[in-house]
Amino acid sequence: MRSADLERRTRARLAAAGCVAADEEAAILVAEADDRAAVERWAARRERGEPLAWIVGRVEFMGRTVHVGPGLYVPRTQSEELAARAAELTPRRGRVADLCTGTGAVGASVRAFRPAGTVVGTDLDPRAAVCARMNGIDAVVADLDAGLAGGAFDVVCAVAPYVPTGALRLLPSDVVSYEPHVALDGGADGLDLVRRVVAGAARLLVPGGWLVTEIGGDQGVPVGEALAAAGFGRHDFWSDDDGDLRGVAARLDRRP
Ligand SMILES: C[S@@+](CC[C@H](N)C(=O)[O-])C[C@H]1O[C@@H](n2cnc3c(N)ncnc32)[C@H](O)[C@@H]1O
Repeated sequence: MRSADLERRTRARLAAAGCVAADEEAAILVAEADDRAAVERWAARRERGEPLAWIVGRVEFMGRTVHVGPGLYVPRTQSEELAARAAELTPRRGRVADLCTGTGAVGASVRAFRPAGTVVGTDLDPRAAVCARMNGIDAVVADLDAGLAGGAFDVVCAVAPYVPTGALRLLPSDVVSYEPHVALDGGADGLDLVRRVVAGAARLLVPGGWLVTEIGGDQGVPVGEALAAAGFGRHDFWSDDDGDLRGVAARLDRRP
């Protein structure tokens, strides 16, 4: 079978399985697989809902290829804005802590923008720490900021789990079935981890340093309150093109 026919057939299979980006994904599967049998096996995995990034082992993030190990949260395009903001806020030789680093996609993007700086990542999942290291991040297995030195960072960034437990069932079914719930579930109002990130960032940052963290839904008010209570004076919220809240950058005025 010619590769154009194989791609057309794969595209039709993926579209029939409900894949919204069947064109793009079929092209990637055909380009990356060693032979036709591998395309068939990979298409079958994708039909069952397994993330494409696990199948081919990579994803594009901020124009760079990021290695994605099996079982890990797949970096989202929506987090590129956070990575860009964190990079802009990082001084040339800045020190950055990427809490909940996952594959290290955010930290690696900051590092690419500020090569003279340093980025440390933490994640509870040892597989994530291994993967983040493959992506060039000095990553350790740790609970958020545990073990990192206080007052030693210019920027803290975090895409922590922030989906309210009750809203997990509203996520796409392949996300719920495949991606680790520890990467998604933020507790009753989604903010269990984010509140701890705010407290941890207040400990880690130098005065004048920035926390850049992803949030969503109606989390702006409670997160603004938590930031103010922790000593963050300025809060710059941002939204996506649909007007939905996506994150906040906040500057630490005083250390607790
Ligand atoms: C939503 S994913 C984000 C990963 C990555 N920053 C990205 O944007 O692709 C959240 C990550 O937080 C990690 N995580 C969850 N609870 C944690 C904790 N208490 N301390 C450190 N990492 C945690 C999960 O293992 C997962 O890799």
